[in-house]
Amino acid sequence: MIEIKTQIPGAKSIALMERRKNAVARGPFHTTPIFAAKAQGAWITDVDGNKLLDFSSGIGVVNVGHSPTRVVEAATNQLNHFIHTSFNVVAYENYITVCEKLNSAMPGKFAKKSFLANSGAEAVENAIKISRAFSGKQAIVCFQHAYHGRTYMAMSLTAKVKPYKYGFAPFNSEVYRCPFPYPYRWPTTSQPDQVAEECFEEFKTLVQSEVGSTQVAAVLIEPVLGEGGFVPAPKKFLSLLRDFCTENKIVLIFDEVQCGFGRTGTLFACEKLGVTPDLLVSAKGIAAGLPLSAVTGKAEIMDGPAEGGIGGTFCGNPVACAAALAVFEEWDKGILARNTLSLEKKLVEYMGQWFKNFSIIGDVRGMGPMRAMELVKNRETKEPNPEATKELVKLCYEKGLILMTAGTFGNVIRLLPPLCTTEEELEEGLNIIQGCLTKLIKDYQSK
Ligand SMILES: Cc1ncc(COP(=O)(O)O)c(C=O)c1O
Repeated sequence: MIEIKTQIPGAKSIALMERRKNAVARGPFHTTPIFAAKAQGAWITDVDGNKLLDFSSGIGVVNVGHSPTRVVEAATNQLNHFIHTSFNVVAYENYITVCEKLNSAMPGKFAKKSFLANSGAEAVENAIKISRAFSGKQAIVCFQHAYHGRTYMAMSLTAKVKPYKYGFAPFNSEVYRCPFPYPYRWPTTSQPDQVAEECFEEFKTLVQSEVGSTQVAAVLIEPVLGEGGFVPAPKKFLSLLRDFCTENKIVLIFDEVQCGFGRTGTLFACEKLGVTPDLLVSAKGIAAGLPLSAVTGKAEIMDGPAEGGIGGTFCGNPVACAAALAVFEEWDKGILARNTLSLEKKLVEYMGQWFKNFSIIGDVRGMGPMRAMELVKNRETKEPNPEATKELVKLCYEKGLILMTAGTFGNVIRLLPPLCTTEEELEEGLNIIQGCLTKLIKDYQSK
């Protein structure tokens, strides 16, 4: 149960925030004003002793829950053997085992290889390097509403300017952007198959007329938008992209940094979507919070860069690899996958009711338990309501529930509970959202 003992933030968090302001660059944002003392399962206890329910999972990372026993044991055991040798200097077995696990987990009946890095952005960068080295081509096609990270290439591939790109130009060249098949905001229809066809036509026209299909090294897409607002790409669109990339010898890359590692109910979203990319990028949930990321894909593509062409001091750190193997163990038990089904059911049920009862909600959507709702000022005009979205997050954390926003227009509430969240915990959180939505609407009406 949520336990709120002080005002949020409490005195200790306030004092730490003062120190933070003086000592830390202002750049990194904070969704909540509290500081963590302890976290377990779906719960975070702050430095003032408040126990909050976490529906953010550290931005979709602790899918297996905060500090699960097996992960802590595996990481501790590795810490007691060695912390770092650098895979480039003295290699170690668990790096290879993680790659073997990834290779067999990725769909597709072809020989596969993997490469490990530290962050999602770094894995995206490497997927681009690998595609260019393999194909000998340069152009990369990406999509509107995309988020791929904050390093220069990943940022160039990211769509949203504020806050991610603002003031950081110039960006990398040979990056081309197409519309994303976003049914709720598609101008002519919201019927997914039709959106898919129309969007694919726009993609094809842009590629053929502005880039040249023979010049494209890779097409990079999130099969379910993460920061862009939890929009699943229609299956049809992905399958049209798949055929186009095959016909034109283009590497198709799926960025599953946010939607992977169980978030949509299967280990990878592409399993559910029935479309297999050439390269699959994972991070976040892979090691339960230790920094690790991966590129997995067709062996001949992965072997594009020459020896020494990819790597890095910390890439595939052994403690992170030990944690990743424990995450695979947890996933292989099947309990989490089963739990995602009941999470999905409850989320769909509640959000469907909210959509009926609260006209501030313009759209509810998602895949598996990866669910979101879009807040609007008016259902007809679909004008985004980022102010209400921000306010809802604040009302919720004051009541002990941690939520995050998303979306190009900042008007999406995304729900990222750990996948081990029990039905009672989920209901406790959803009832808080419901109460806060009611209050929010009352406050708006009285203005
Ligand atoms: C789809 C996607 N790709 C890449 C990234 C970048 O990952 P990282 O923050 O670990 O660099 C993120 C982070 O949110 C993401 O959601």
